[in-house]
Amino acid sequence: MSPVSDSTNRVVPGPQEPEKTYHPSDGLFTDAHVPDFDAYLAIYKKSTEEPEEFWADVAQEFYWKKPRSGQMLQYNFDVNKGNIYIKFMEGAKTNICYNVLDRNVHERNLGEKVAYYWEGNSPNHHQTITYNQLLRNVCRCANALKLLGVKKGDRVAIYLPMIPELVYTMLACARIGAVHSIVFAGFSSESLCERIMDAQCNILVTADSVYRGDKLINLKKIASEALERLRIVISVSLSMALCVQKCVVVKHHAFRTNSDASNKLQTPWDESCDIWWDDLMDGVSDECEPEWVDSEDPLFILYTSGSTGKPKGVVHTITGYMLYTSLTFKYVFDYHHDDVYWCTADIGWITGHSYITYGPLANGATSVLFEGVPVYPHVGRLWEIIEKYAVSKFYTAPTAIRLLMKYGKEPLQRYDLSSLRVLGTVGEPINPEAWLWYYDVVGQQRCPVIDTFWQTETGGHVLTPLPAATPLKPGSATCPFFGVQPAILNEHGEELEGEAEGYLVFRKPWPGIMRGVYGNQERFESTYFRKFPGFYVTGDGCRRDKDGYYWITGRIDDMLNVSGHLLSTAEVEAALTEHPSVAEAAVVSRPHAVKGECLYCFVTLKDHKEFNRTLMEELKRKVREKIGPIATPDFIQNAPGLPKTRSGKIMRRVLRQIARNEKDLGDLSTLADPKVVEVLFSQRCEAAA
Ligand code: WT7
Repeated sequence: MSPVSDSTNRVVPGPQEPEKTYHPSDGLFTDAHVPDFDAYLAIYKKSTEEPEEFWADVAQEFYWKKPRSGQMLQYNFDVNKGNIYIKFMEGAKTNICYNVLDRNVHERNLGEKVAYYWEGNSPNHHQTITYNQLLRNVCRCANALKLLGVKKGDRVAIYLPMIPELVYTMLACARIGAVHSIVFAGFSSESLCERIMDAQCNILVTADSVYRGDKLINLKKIASEALERLRIVISVSLSMALCVQKCVVVKHHAFRTNSDASNKLQTPWDESCDIWWDDLMDGVSDECEPEWVDSEDPLFILYTSGSTGKPKGVVHTITGYMLYTSLTFKYVFDYHHDDVYWCTADIGWITGHSYITYGPLANGATSVLFEGVPVYPHVGRLWEIIEKYAVSKFYTAPTAIRLLMKYGKEPLQRYDLSSLRVLGTVGEPINPEAWLWYYDVVGQQRCPVIDTFWQTETGGHVLTPLPAATPLKPGSATCPFFGVQPAILNEHGEELEGEAEGYLVFRKPWPGIMRGVYGNQERFESTYFRKFPGFYVTGDGCRRDKDGYYWITGRIDDMLNVSGHLLSTAEVEAALTEHPSVAEAAVVSRPHAVKGECLYCFVTLKDHKEFNRTLMEELKRKVREKIGPIATPDFIQNAPGLPKTRSGKIMRRVLRQIARNEKDLGDLSTLADPKVVEVLFSQRCEAAA
């Protein structure tokens, strides 16, 4: 048995050896940055053998208030040799907002170039924002934040839908040296509160309400509930440091499709704390001198699920993240100045941070910023937008591809997709069937499919093909990006050479890697560095084939990937056991045709409690309230008992097999009570709850 197959949450049956490689670059990439595989190998070699020179060249394009005088990179990846740290160009001073905006406007003459085509949830709402306009709006927002007392190093929580103000606010924070902590606007009030508290944010920026498809969401109400919860915690702990002083509210209702929506909604308002965005910006100057900060000052915190249940605040710092997102964007999408680029992710996730905001803007790119969902108001919406803006580089998630596959080719055939050049995917392993559909139907066999593997923690792509250079194998993220040195280890931490399967790790830092878990060095080290001293551990299983290509096999910890979003089973279990009827809960993943994986929950009830539909609905609501709609369970099974070892440890492997209806359970001799398994099998859920 391979070292990782027992606990792997596989989405697809293990990656298969492909019959065919794909290399559709002929004629399409006459001016590619990396024209062929040999060129890739040569640049890769330089990046790993002479990293100082390699990154110094990349850094030259950027503006430095004070140039670097010390070392390019300092780090320790070995827990046995002291604290883990990574420092990149420490001592140099710059500002990332200046580099992605002012530099484009003043040094590269791109002021009149479109930075974003904003496309609202409703096709009737759109707006074009040039680099000049973006810079002015960011400066106004930066000045407004300063008026509220925000200083360098302060944390600002942002809970906004995909509207231009989201980009303005994050860049305004960067401009004044404040640290943004963006919380995806689909998270619940409890999740928002937890994140605000952990990062000790004193400002929250949100919107009154937003339409997602035809569903109206009262965002301010959720935000107010989060702040109310926060006040209760503060009054108990007497820690004023936790206090949110001001809540800035964007009036988004101008874009509401439904004119009487405002009558349906009541925006909760607290005079002592809440302030309308428009009132705050009124009369504020549109010029703002950037705060010159150190390379290793923090840029942002972004929370990602942790296997203990409590989310981790991943910290990224300025220079390394700037160089890495900029370089990966340029090479991975083979970016050229006439491109129109579109990433469908939400800025609330790392994909949006790196590849909607920082990477594209650093290159002076034109992007689509899309507020809506793929199937509203019709199932051809994405294709319609590609035609409308003549999108040339398109980046989405396997779950979206699988969703749209269901509607067949017809919705695509109504639109002209001939502008497309490169198709990217991210978030989870892509099954070969979805890969081929993307390639054949969306790209019309013209466009390479770029399967980018990376994580919130890696800051940018780490395993990825390059459009003109890398022959493609459906389902493989192929080869490492410049400067990235992967390795595969077995359970004992021994490095495996050649064809092998095991734990995916990295042996050295690249500029974009995370610098820590906010306020918790111990958790940073134990999560990523303790298992195999000397390596960064991704938490993913991986196989390397005979050509040296990497195939991600899925998570090997207690995490699961629902529609490209990581969740921890512990987090969902904690939500379920909060229900007064539940004694114990165990959550595992089960393959899902569209989401990749979904949640299958086993719950043991307290004595004399009845398992019925009402309870199921209550449990689902509990999870939605505690985490957010993305974590809603698909299956909830009554479990009179759970399969446990004699020492009381739940055997998740057995539960996963029950959820997947896999009858061959293997060795059950370590179970305290093997009969439990039969009972669970006989009562397993066939259909979703
Ligand atoms: C986890 C990271 C990176 C942005 C979105 C998710 C999985 C991500 C791929 C891919 C196979 C992938 C991994 C990884 N993952 N991209 N191309 N192939 N798996 O960021 O929430 O930090 O999740 O997503 O399991 O560890 P995230």
